[in-house]
Amino acid sequence: MRIMVTGGAGYIGSVVTQELIKAGHEAVVYDNLSYGHRGAVHSPAEFVEADLLDGETLRSVLRTRAIEAVMHMAAYALVGESVRHPAKYYQNNLVAGLSLLNAMNECGVKRLVFSSTCATYGEPEEVPIKENSPNRPTNPYGESKLAFERALRWYEGAYGLRSASLRYFNAAGATERCGEWHGPETHLIPLVLHDAGRRRGQYRAGRCLHACGRRDGGHNALLYRRHRHGILGERSAIYNLGCGGDGYTVREVIDTAREVTGRDIATRVAPRRAGDPAVLIASSEKIRSELGWQPEFQDLQVIIQSAWQWLLAHPRGYEE
Ligand SMILES: NC(=O)c1ccc[n+]([C@@H]2O[C@H](COP(=O)([O-])OP(=O)(O)OC[C@H]3O[C@@H](n4cnc5c(N)ncnc54)[C@H](O)[C@@H]3O)[C@@H](O)[C@H]2O)c1
Repeated sequence: MRIMVTGGAGYIGSVVTQELIKAGHEAVVYDNLSYGHRGAVHSPAEFVEADLLDGETLRSVLRTRAIEAVMHMAAYALVGESVRHPAKYYQNNLVAGLSLLNAMNECGVKRLVFSSTCATYGEPEEVPIKENSPNRPTNPYGESKLAFERALRWYEGAYGLRSASLRYFNAAGATERCGEWHGPETHLIPLVLHDAGRRRGQYRAGRCLHACGRRDGGHNALLYRRHRHGILGERSAIYNLGCGGDGYTVREVIDTAREVTGRDIATRVAPRRAGDPAVLIASSEKIRSELGWQPEFQDLQVIIQSAWQWLLAHPRGYEE
């Protein structure tokens, strides 16, 4: 299949692109490098540096490469920033996303896999969270993703666009080639590991790791298989993507990182970040029963080990 991956120079998109190529697909990465890295793009994939708001380039890529499906991962994803700058998030995650949908519609591309988020739920009424739980986002990031998901329903009814919205909980881990290198970094596992490695100078002893409660996660390398399921589904659907189980507390993550790295990690308990719910754990029952998906890497130790190996092999990430 010929697949366009928006945001394919980012953390999850780079792994998905790598897995697509491995499985024999042709991939075109479409990314403006606002947060991604050229070096993260697996070389057999074609790379187009452009913005989603550039409808002309989008249409040209979709037509000339005869794209059959799109995996849409391009977005801004910093919860705290979204609270301070909601306009930036609505513009990129909703308006730029609609620019993509309109270009797909004009070019007759009818299949989309959307990287959504558990931030659509907000503070859950019950855990594990099911797909039919109420959506009450507590930050503009979650609102902007939910607004895009809702547009998909209407685009399907009117234009026949079939989609799978995959609500990731917390992606973590690395492959040998691709790892997590965000700037700024807000995710727990890379923050903890950077502290263990103290590689970039800005992670001082005593740096505050915000205690944000209990989280569910998933190994990034596995997201591809879930995406493939999404593309092949017979009808549009929304699925949670998490490992299920009881999730892990921040303290469990830190203790496991200490074990894996054999190094000390400085911590100080601090209040939760604005807009962050206390507990986010997925029910993955729906994707298991409808698509037969099974998690392969649920072990926190294995996930952290893969991220640590990547960081040791790439101490400057994707920077030259
Ligand atoms: N990482 C997680 O744990 C997590 C959890 C839930 C949901 N998600 C979602 O998964 C997707 C990928 O997350 P990630 O962690 O890989 O993020 P990321 O920031 O590493 O990657 C996003 C990529 O999109 C690109 N991009 C952003 N706006 C663009 C635009 N207008 N035009 C072209 N390219 C643009 C960026 O340059 C970047 O390479 C996002 O949509 C995010 O909302 C991620």
